[in-house]
Amino acid sequence: MAVAACAVLRGLLPRHLFVRTAPGLSVRQMSSQQSEKPDSLDTYETLKLERVREKVLHVELNRPEKRNAMNAAFWREMVECFNKVAQDSECHAVVISGAGKMFTSGIDLMEMGSVFLMVPGDDTARKAWNIHKKIQEYQETFTVLEKCPKPIIAAIHGGCIGGGMNLISACDIRYCTKDAWFQIKEVDVGLAADVGVLQRLPHIIGNWSLVNELVFAARKLMAPEAESHGLVSRVFQDKEAMMQSAFDLATEIASRSPVAVQGSKVNLVYSRDHPVSDGLNYMAAWNMSMLQTEDIIKSAQAIMEKKTPKQIAYSKL
Ligand SMILES: *[C@@H]1O[C@H](CO)[C@@H](O)[C@H](O)[C@H]1NC(C)=O
Ligand SMILES: *[C@@H]1O[C@H](CO)[C@@H](O)[C@H](O)[C@H]1NC(C)=O
Repeated sequence: MAVAACAVLRGLLPRHLFVRTAPGLSVRQMSSQQSEKPDSLDTYETLKLERVREKVLHVELNRPEKRNAMNAAFWREMVECFNKVAQDSECHAVVISGAGKMFTSGIDLMEMGSVFLMVPGDDTARKAWNIHKKIQEYQETFTVLEKCPKPIIAAIHGGCIGGGMNLISACDIRYCTKDAWFQIKEVDVGLAADVGVLQRLPHIIGNWSLVNELVFAARKLMAPEAESHGLVSRVFQDKEAMMQSAFDLATEIASRSPVAVQGSKVNLVYSRDHPVSDGLNYMAAWNMSMLQTEDIIKSAQAIMEKKTPKQIAYSKL
């Protein structure tokens, strides 16, 4: 398949190069646009961003003095941040971690408790209508992780509680330290988790009896059990070792064709939620454009020349 595609597409290569430089922009204009603030990253109140390796972005939950509790600014900033990351061609993979003692203690009840109690509305219907809208906004805080085509690795140390479970279940890969623990805490504050963990976790763990234990009894899940059930794929001695490995993995991902990697993420997420036949139709429609990438030709050439992905210069995406 790859070889046939390569032969078919060899003829398209010059046209690609033409298309990338031609429409209305001279090469000089393009490079001057790019050189404007080449490495500008936004600053946030609750998130700290850093480009740690080539095309690898580190997003740190950054309220260590509050155990990274999720306050109003956090819910808003996650959406802003990951909508930008989705468009950022300098970023091909992301690592999320928490600053301080733990990954996150979940929703900040001190700050957020009143949000749903003080929703305006003249009657029950209008109040409910407005609450519905608010919940959807809150769901978006984690859905952006899934919508962002760049792979996202969650690196978890210490506790990952409540809202944290909603966050990590929307990530693509999870690593943790051996002292990490996980808890779906919502029932303890009298509510059903409503921002994604109930929908996503059963796809990740696949052991419904265990999922139900965790949800109904707010039972703590420790790192070894999390690993044996596939919630995390690796457990590390300490945070430093975990961060190194998470950055290494992100670097491996970022060195590969972004057309192939990001296309795979979009199609994996789609296939999780659709029957196989729909998934294949979607894939075929996706590929009828994406197979026309120069990345396939570059990859095939590299294989013939016995090069590794890191030695290939793929265009950004
Ligand atoms: C489900 O999880 C429980 C608790 O960890 C475990 O004892 C059991 O073997 C698991 N079942 C399957 C089929 O994985
Ligand atoms: C889509 O293209 C990829 C290469 O980018 C290939 O591995 C895969 O088999 C193709 N899938 C279909 C359904 O054509």
